[in-house]
Amino acid sequence: MDKKDITILAIESSCDETAASVVVNGRTVLSNEISSQIDIHTLYGGVVPEIASRKHIERVNQVIRAALNTAGKTLSGLDAVAVTCGPGLVGALLIGVSAAKALSFGTGLPLIGVHHIEGHISANYISDPDLVPPFVCLVVSGGHTHLVRVKDYGEYEILGRTRDDAAGEAFDKVARAIGLGYPGGPKIDMAARNGDPDAVRFPRGKVEGSAYDFSFSGIKSSVLNYLNECDMKKIPVNVPDVAASFQKAVVEVLTEHAMRAVEEYRFDRLTLAGGVASNSALRASMAEACAKAGVKFSCPPPVLCTDNAAMIGCAAYYEYLKGFRSGYDLNAVPGLQLGESVYR
Ligand code: KG4
Ligand code: ZN
Repeated sequence: MDKKDITILAIESSCDETAASVVVNGRTVLSNEISSQIDIHTLYGGVVPEIASRKHIERVNQVIRAALNTAGKTLSGLDAVAVTCGPGLVGALLIGVSAAKALSFGTGLPLIGVHHIEGHISANYISDPDLVPPFVCLVVSGGHTHLVRVKDYGEYEILGRTRDDAAGEAFDKVARAIGLGYPGGPKIDMAARNGDPDAVRFPRGKVEGSAYDFSFSGIKSSVLNYLNECDMKKIPVNVPDVAASFQKAVVEVLTEHAMRAVEEYRFDRLTLAGGVASNSALRASMAEACAKAGVKFSCPPPVLCTDNAAMIGCAAYYEYLKGFRSGYDLNAVPGLQLGESVYR
């Protein structure tokens, strides 16, 4: 390995995955350890913040050790320690931030706080070695729906965002309502494969006066109304049909807005990021729309779409190159905005 190579240990604990990864030069992933808490939170139908924090404490050291072992690295073989410092659940974030600070303080390695959404966007650099800014990225996760213009590494302009529910949140709520349970996104994705996407016409959310903002609460409410109506009329609900029809409504809106941005800003590249980016219908719809528009499309494999630490190591690398370092006053910021500099 070249002496000038930069090796970063990254930690992610913003929600219900305890993750650590070793990444070289931002794009070569030597290890990507993810300890998911899904089994525990499934019992409660969603993430319970206090339980998430406690599980992160129990697992963070093991996950970090596993990431170093798999990568064949010791702490002395690292150049920096990176960690997600926001947005996310404050108690969950604090575990990763504290672990990273302790490692940095004990070893003298530089500390780099990373924005979680910047991490999601950066997952694209790992899966597509040729990808360089500028490009447009649709970030669709459990907590965020952003249409982002990536001007340069670490430089973002938010073109559109959700006014109410995030796309993943809508998937999770609808899945719960139709009895599929948690986590809803993958379950709707699976159920929809056996359903008719044209069985029920759910509204396509529009935001008055904004071409790029999203609204998913209307689609979600109309699914709930449909379920109530079926209940009142004693009509059996066809779960795969409802899943496929809901998914089609969401995917259509996401595709339409993203392609509008591609056209208006003349982007020649479109990427996806976040947990919902692993949705098979969304990936297929974007690939088709981009092919039609003559625009290059790429998105990370599902394991890099949902929460992981490799994406944090990638984002941290570009911050490292710019000379950015966090102090030991780095804190967990649950509502951190993309591009906000409070963590710098
Ligand atoms: O990015 P992520 O792992 O965590 C956040 O930063 O929020 O995203 C989690 C979200 C959840 O709402 C989950 O239901 C959704 O991503 N998701 C999916 C799929 N896989 C995960 N949504 C639709 N289809 C999927 N295949
Ligand atoms: Zn995430």
